[in-house]
Amino acid sequence: MKSWQIWRQLVLFALLTLVLTGCGIQELSALQPQGPVAEMQFDLMKLSFSIMISVFVVVILIFTYVLIRYRKRPGQDGIPKQVEGSHKLEILWTVIPFLLLIVLAVPTVTTGFTLHKEYDNKEALQVKVIAHQFWWEFEYPDLGVATAQDLVIPAGKKIQFDVTSADVMHSFWIPALGGKIDTNPGLDNKMWLQADKPGIYYGKCAELCGASHALMDFKVEAVTPEEFDAWAKKMKEVQAQPAAASAAAKGQEIFKKSCLGCHAVAGEGGKLGPNLTNFADRQKVAGIRPNNAEELAAWLKDPQKIKPGNNMPNLNLTDDQVNALVEYISTLSVKK
Ligand code: CUA
Repeated sequence: MKSWQIWRQLVLFALLTLVLTGCGIQELSALQPQGPVAEMQFDLMKLSFSIMISVFVVVILIFTYVLIRYRKRPGQDGIPKQVEGSHKLEILWTVIPFLLLIVLAVPTVTTGFTLHKEYDNKEALQVKVIAHQFWWEFEYPDLGVATAQDLVIPAGKKIQFDVTSADVMHSFWIPALGGKIDTNPGLDNKMWLQADKPGIYYGKCAELCGASHALMDFKVEAVTPEEFDAWAKKMKEVQAQPAAASAAAKGQEIFKKSCLGCHAVAGEGGKLGPNLTNFADRQKVAGIRPNNAEELAAWLKDPQKIKPGNNMPNLNLTDDQVNALVEYISTLSVKK
């Protein structure tokens, strides 16, 4: 390869790196911590990065100095004097990394213990997380409430998570709040997180779990404690009601026949699919597409096209049935 080709590749690579750094969004970035756990973990990242960068800079400086100082000069022939072994140097470059590792290890272990102290905090709001291919179920055992895909939490309060899986291994991760932790079938893993301010924080599955692993997104909606209490109360009290409009009533009939076996609404129905009690309040359809009539219809017509390998069957609905279902499902809200 000619040298200009190497340079061209290097420049392209640098540009690509620059473009890719733009892919991070604040709501999904561990580098912009939004709670105490994420902050502690970010401090560790800063420490290890500064150590790595200092080592890199020092090595490159010595390397450049040696290259220039001991280069071959005009008139210099033959092999220069050969040197082997230096106790002084060997001790030096064993002791320096050892000290650096201690500097890294002490805060890392201390942070681990600090986080573990709250490992099973009974005072905190308890949330049970159940991962499924490819969606998230959230239960609030103390409140008797369940939801899916959008986790609603009070800001400024500790949340104690109890995470498990209904099928394969997944990993529960909300970068801006901290984490992550594996969800394993038959096992309960514990951790806690806190969002300091109300806002939307994005979460992802961080363990390869099947065809739609990359689409296994969820959201954390942190609200004020008052808003949270009101939300939980409504979620608990909401009753399955006969739909008012005629199109929605038709959709409700279809829903009872074809959907309720897997999807619960207001305490009635199955648990194989996401709970839809407050579906209309969620920002996304299936966790990934904007929540509007068009996207919901597309999902109902062919769920496999949108999330390959998920467990929602194609119900072979007619356009009329899909429209009626969309009408009905769009009424499921605890906010409106
Ligand atoms: Cu679930 Cu990846």
